[in-house]
Amino acid sequence: MKTNLENRTVLLTGAGGGIGQAIAVKLAAQGMKTILFGGNNLEKLNKTREIVEKHTSCLMLPGDLTDMEFLSSGVKKAVEKFGSIDVLINNAGMTLNAPFEKVTVEDFDKLMTVNAKVPFFLTQNVIPYLKNSDMATIINIASVVGHSGYPFQSIYSASKHAMLGMTKSIASEYYKENIRVHAISPGGVYTDMVKISRPDLTPDGMIMPEEIADIVFFFLANRGNAVVDEIIVHRVNKEPFLV
Ligand SMILES: NC(=O)c1ccc[n+]([C@@H]2O[C@H](COP(=O)([O-])OP(=O)(O)OC[C@H]3O[C@@H](n4cnc5c(N)ncnc54)[C@H](OP(=O)(O)O)[C@@H]3O)[C@@H](O)[C@H]2O)c1
Repeated sequence: MKTNLENRTVLLTGAGGGIGQAIAVKLAAQGMKTILFGGNNLEKLNKTREIVEKHTSCLMLPGDLTDMEFLSSGVKKAVEKFGSIDVLINNAGMTLNAPFEKVTVEDFDKLMTVNAKVPFFLTQNVIPYLKNSDMATIINIASVVGHSGYPFQSIYSASKHAMLGMTKSIASEYYKENIRVHAISPGGVYTDMVKISRPDLTPDGMIMPEEIADIVFFFLANRGNAVVDEIIVHRVNKEPFLV
């Protein structure tokens, strides 16, 4: 079954980042009303907003997603503006490339908060609105590190395992209410995250953010009775310890 995405509403985190911007642009081009939720880098977020507004209505809500009060008030503002939320994409995240013995308590708390606690409680805030949609979908951007153990990725890997655990649990908890829950687990995607954490890598053989946006579109556009739970995409020149 093909789904018409025009005038549906998507709430997306991390829209100023590489993957988030590509997803926002792809879905805005389908006519989806787009909420750019959270973000501290206004320059990047505004750039995404400018592109999105060429296609569709956009609400930009900058802010720190680790602030739980911002999560709940932001979701309410989004619903006040557009009246509904059909799709939630938990994309914001951060990585840390560090030897296990160097990971601090602060690092642990930060990565667990951004990569696991934020998607958990944002989803909790959005679920009541998704229950009113006939195409309710949650897509979590996890990582190949949520499946395998790469050296120097202990806390990033632990946080993405946590995200995938939540994904699997709520996928079975909510399927009877017609809410689809998916994960996309990419290998190395050429964004600032990789450019900063692995400056030795070049774009050669890396996944491009637009390829992840195409997978998001696939999940949303092909809503039928054949459910795909997760898509794992490795880069061509697969090698150990990539984000
Ligand atoms: N790049 C890869 O190789 C790769 C591979 C697998 C999975 N992923 C996952 O894909 C997702 C997107 O990553 P990316 O590669 O596009 O990285 P990116 O360009 O660094 O984007 C990350 C985004 O997350 C946002 N973010 C982080 N902490 C936040 C906070 N506390 N509050 C609000 N926003 C916050 C950032 O916003 P601000 O900077 O404005 O705060 C930024 O927009 C992440 O979940 C990442 O783990 C990436």
